[in-house]
Amino acid sequence: MLIALQSPLEHRMPPTVESTSPRAGRVIAMTNQAGGSGKTTSAVNVAACAAEFGYRVLVVGTDAQCDASVLLGYDPDEMEDQPTLHDVLIGAAGIEEAIVPASAGPAGEEESREIPNLFLVPESADLEDAEQILTSRLAREMWLRTILDPIRDQWDLIIIDCPGNLGLVSVNAIAAADQVVACVKPSTKELRAMTRMETKVDQISAAFAANGAKAELSYVLLVDVPTTRSQGAVYADSAEQAREAYGDMVLPSVRRSPRIAEAYHHQMPMSWYDRAAPVTADFYAVTKALGLRRC
Ligand SMILES: Nc1ncnc2c1ncn2[C@@H]1O[C@H](COP(=O)(O)OP(=O)(O)OP(=O)(O)O)[C@@H](O)[C@H]1O
Ligand SMILES: [Mg+2]
Repeated sequence: MLIALQSPLEHRMPPTVESTSPRAGRVIAMTNQAGGSGKTTSAVNVAACAAEFGYRVLVVGTDAQCDASVLLGYDPDEMEDQPTLHDVLIGAAGIEEAIVPASAGPAGEEESREIPNLFLVPESADLEDAEQILTSRLAREMWLRTILDPIRDQWDLIIIDCPGNLGLVSVNAIAAADQVVACVKPSTKELRAMTRMETKVDQISAAFAANGAKAELSYVLLVDVPTTRSQGAVYADSAEQAREAYGDMVLPSVRRSPRIAEAYHHQMPMSWYDRAAPVTADFYAVTKALGLRRC
């Protein structure tokens, strides 16, 4: 069980920056106003593929559910002395102190392994207060951009996993991003909501352009896509609709697979849990379609 997969973190030091050379610092936000639309699964798996391709990648988890942290080996109840994003938010830690190496399997346990090139700013349940804390701040939409800007050139890629709503935390992520990926389960309901999301992303970039916000909805990622029509003709039809509406913005789909839930249980990205699974190949294809090639 997940609860048993816990580890002390006290011995973990913040990773040192190996290179001082400026990197591209591309920031991608994975978002959707709906919960359970595959944001975290996509964020973590694309990040793991990009790290394997040789990019230096940072995942920033922003959700009180802490799924990105769990998937990268950290148990939110066991963070103790390790600063999290919430500590950065309240000014108790700097962003660099909150960076930990990603782990395939529970961090610190013997059978687990550090994932080369992949790092995480972990979440904690107290991020539930984040909206409330931000509301009373000046420049409340710019907080994430402000903390990420000074470290951008240490990373090739920063992936922000957003919560399942378009509240202030997601607004921060969009304002900090160069590109926004909408993760969508191909259903009529979710596709209808895409227009609203596209408008919201444009509004955020327009409102904060002077602060550097420039993201637009760049990609649509269909996740949890049934592989046979018998699994759901409606899904297959709406996947087709998405391609008609968004054309080249639609990334290769990620098929439905029971291996996704298994990998979550084992706290690993798919490329570490089951390299040969067809759904793992989907994540490599998505990563390449984002322009990230083996380097
Ligand atoms: N390709 C897939 N095949 C099967 N199950 C999937 C797939 N992608 C995601 N899921 C499952 O769908 C559920 C939601 O996925 P995920 O947690 O990635 O979504 P989310 O958008 O991050 O959710 P939230 O808004 O709650 O943060 C999870 O149980 C996950 O295991
Ligand atoms: Mg999530």
